[in-house]
Amino acid sequence: MTTRIPRIAPSEITPPEVYFDRRRFLTGALAASAGAVLARAGAAVLPSAAGAPLQYTNDAAESVGALVHAPEQDETPNSWEQITHYNNYYEFGTSKSDPAAYAGQLQVRPWSLAVAGEAERTGTFALEDFLKPYALEERIYRFRCVEAWSMVIPWVGFPLAQLLQQFKPTSRAKFVAFETLYRPSQMPGQRMPILQWPYREGLRIDEAMNPLAFMVVGLYGRVLPNQSGAPLRLIVPWKYGFKSIKAIVRIVFSEQQPVTTWSQAAPNEYGFYANVNPHVPHPRWSQATERRIGAPLFHERQATLMFNGYAPEVAYLYKGMDLHQYF
Ligand code: MTE
Repeated sequence: MTTRIPRIAPSEITPPEVYFDRRRFLTGALAASAGAVLARAGAAVLPSAAGAPLQYTNDAAESVGALVHAPEQDETPNSWEQITHYNNYYEFGTSKSDPAAYAGQLQVRPWSLAVAGEAERTGTFALEDFLKPYALEERIYRFRCVEAWSMVIPWVGFPLAQLLQQFKPTSRAKFVAFETLYRPSQMPGQRMPILQWPYREGLRIDEAMNPLAFMVVGLYGRVLPNQSGAPLRLIVPWKYGFKSIKAIVRIVFSEQQPVTTWSQAAPNEYGFYANVNPHVPHPRWSQATERRIGAPLFHERQATLMFNGYAPEVAYLYKGMDLHQYF
């Protein structure tokens, strides 16, 4: 069984200059269409900004289809090195370098996912079967950690809304919860009581249906590396990074708001909603500004944007809510 994760021979990897030309072209062409997905038609031939033909070569049938919604088009993505060597993944330790050092020991094949709870379709699926219905897209999103650092990251994946369409949560389902693999033999951090394992996260169903909520299987057109949450993680770009749970093995639709790891560990510091909000400081530091990873050492910190800059797309979800209360 093949997966739709791009498999790219080293010789086929698009050089960064070409990659970013393509990105600029697509940004212009598609930025307005948050839901647009190009037909999944094998290796797409896309003109570069300079007009020269550009073949985005992946495994022929497994091409990344399109870049959709890139409101941060003027921001340069962080490098592969930065994105994969400055990580939070407590299952492998608490330092930023631990995931790159230790996540290689995690075996991500075979992998299965359980879907349970208030949904018409539930069950346990091999990853390959689980991923079959989805056409992959590329999304370049800002990523803002609650620790006040940020990056810009070109993810590959599919909208979480499409997953919900597959499993059809019932009208009783108000939330969707996610759970990370629990495998202390390969995840050394889980042998220590750093957090209550397994790591858990969740969203309201309407948040999960927002077109920006994204299930990720790749990065820079390559298969997601372990330290970044392979084989499947969530990305919720308008929320602090801890909502973006890695190495998902279980998805549960529920009527009740699920328990989530960080709000359980420190409820006064990390809320369930965790929307990026420069006006609500963390009890121990300001959230008004952020440090962009890779920026020159004495570069000014940059202003943090409400909902991480995605307010036009997501603010409707929180109408009438006191955003100071629901941090
Ligand atoms: N998921 C799991 N399972 N374990 C974790 O420790 N850390 C979270 C989130 N997802 C974490 C996790 C936090 S705090 C952040 S900021 C992001 O992953 C970091 O993602 P990155 O390492 O890809 O930048």
